[in-house]
Amino acid sequence: MINLLTNAVTYSPEGSTVILRAVPQVDTIEKKTVRISVEDQGPGIGAEHLDRIFERFYRCDKARSRENGGTGLGLAIVKHIAQCHGGTVEVESRPGQGAVFTLILQG
Ligand SMILES: Nc1ncnc2c1ncn2[C@@H]1O[C@H](COP(=O)(O)OP(=O)(O)O)[C@@H](O)[C@H]1O
Ligand SMILES: [Mg+2]
Repeated sequence: MINLLTNAVTYSPEGSTVILRAVPQVDTIEKKTVRISVEDQGPGIGAEHLDRIFERFYRCDKARSRENGGTGLGLAIVKHIAQCHGGTVEVESRPGQGAVFTLILQG
């Protein structure tokens, strides 16, 4: 969560809003999930990057990311930890329209 929140704050303009949500969901009697999402109003992420963003050392904008001290490892770690807990992580974003990262965990 810290990695997702740090990204949201780092890549968004000062004074913009970051929303953290936790939504429990009962799919069936046996299957419950919780969706934990971090939504920001930053620059968003282009479609060409979305497939690769969870790879180790992948950064969309190398110059900007280096300025911000990024290593490109944060999202790879998020994906790994989600998988260790039997969960997944998804991203929804369009350039100029912010980003939503969602962790989906089994309850
Ligand atoms: N909330 C976000 N808004 C826009 N771009 C993002 C966001 N989160 C991640 N990115 C992009 O994805 C890249 C990979 O993120 P991450 O793995 O956390 O590495 P970094 O160390 O560069 O933050 C970042 O360099 C940035 O280009
Ligand atoms: Mg990061």
